[in-house]
Amino acid sequence: MEPAALSQILSSFSGMFSQVDHPNLIVGLEVSDDAAVYRINSDTAVVLTVDFFTPVVDDPYSYGAVAAANAMSDIYAMGGTVTLALNICGFPPELPRDVIAEILKGGADKVKEAGGVLAGGHTVDDKEPKYGLAVMGIAHPDRIMTKAGAQPGDSLILTKPLGSGIITTAAKAGLAEKKDIEAAVANMACLSDKAAGILISFGITGCTDITGFGLLGHASEMAQKSGVHIRLRASELSFLPGAGEYAEQWLFPGGTGKNKKAFEAGISMTAELEEEMVHLLYTPETSGGLLAAVPSEKKDGVLKEFERLGLFCRAIGTIEEGSGIDLV
Ligand code: CO
Ligand code: CO
Ligand code: CO
Repeated sequence: MEPAALSQILSSFSGMFSQVDHPNLIVGLEVSDDAAVYRINSDTAVVLTVDFFTPVVDDPYSYGAVAAANAMSDIYAMGGTVTLALNICGFPPELPRDVIAEILKGGADKVKEAGGVLAGGHTVDDKEPKYGLAVMGIAHPDRIMTKAGAQPGDSLILTKPLGSGIITTAAKAGLAEKKDIEAAVANMACLSDKAAGILISFGITGCTDITGFGLLGHASEMAQKSGVHIRLRASELSFLPGAGEYAEQWLFPGGTGKNKKAFEAGISMTAELEEEMVHLLYTPETSGGLLAAVPSEKKDGVLKEFERLGLFCRAIGTIEEGSGIDLV
């Protein structure tokens, strides 16, 4: 659902949505989480989300794959598995057929990799290409992960390195190196299915994914919705190759400044960070990692399981009592 100027607007009008207190709606608009969750019966809930955007990279197949992985990321952030997806397409009439076919193939291959079924979709004419998915996932109603599930004493883990947003912005300006773009595409197209599977198997309850609000924005949301303070360790943060250089060249997308304005009041900086590194932590990410709160007694087991499966995972902070974020 997010990134969510819109979902914030919708939330403020949630009174208009007469069904927000429906008994089967476990997670709905009033808490603006990563996806809506609807209980079907005592052991099945449907997880529903939609996400689409304009091209983030030049290569049409990669664009399709990244857009699909990004849309499915919200299902994984809630603890669901992907079942059914529909294409959402806006294409200029003059866009060559083979380019459209490549975008759709990138998305279809990703849904297949996720174990889901791509069962149709809808296309409209649009000046600028847009592509994404509506996705239905399935979860156990008692094992939903939300932004509100973090507890004081938990460790905070992040399952992908940061920096996709600044690299795609540098690429659009023609200033990114090919190898950096390739690493960013691989990072964005990487599904969070296995990461979510580990978190679910350990009974983790607090999770979200890093997208349009950047690390600091999404961490702020988790702190606010869980009613906790988050202490982030700057030295533990990992970045994609090139991200730091493009930050030094100040190639930030427009969303960086908006996120900083929206969230900086709740964030204190103890760490001595260069101004561009602070900006990098506010920079929107595409299909970023899962940010999860892991109880201290489960932390070693969770990290070991990520290592065993060869998956990226870093402990980047701790959850404490209080409010807001401290970057140390
Ligand atoms: Co989303
Ligand atoms: Co999300
Ligand atoms: Co239709």
